[in-house]
Amino acid sequence: MYSEKVMDHFQHPRNVGEIENASGVGTVGNAKCGDIMRMYLDIDDNGIIRDCKFKTFGCGAAVATSSMATELVMGKTIEEALKVTNQAVMEALDGLPPVKVHCSLLAEEAIHAALWDYAEKHGITIEGLKKPKSDISEGEEEEDY
Ligand code: FES
Repeated sequence: MYSEKVMDHFQHPRNVGEIENASGVGTVGNAKCGDIMRMYLDIDDNGIIRDCKFKTFGCGAAVATSSMATELVMGKTIEEALKVTNQAVMEALDGLPPVKVHCSLLAEEAIHAALWDYAEKHGITIEGLKKPKSDISEGEEEEDY
């Protein structure tokens, strides 16, 4: 049911942990399944993401997608990181089963939340970044979990 890459990132997640004095921290959850993800970004003066760590209290797919998401945003500019959508993360993992697609949204939203925090701390606006939801299940169509 899961690709080898998903299993690999679930069993050996990359970049787990916290960054002290991170440039931006974002926490998002999904009230329906109760899963929570926190993303830490270290962004240098040129707007390059130098480090990225995460903590996920959630299902295997959430762990695998957050792990892959950290790898995808590492070394990228803020603008490039914004393009790391849940689709991009899923493709990099060779797909997720349809019932697990919502888990990848946590990773995308956690990156956005961390970027939002960074922008607020620096008094800047990041073009194309909308205020992230803290609960991604808000306003969602009813789905079976
Ligand atoms: Fe909640 Fe996967 S993130 S079930």
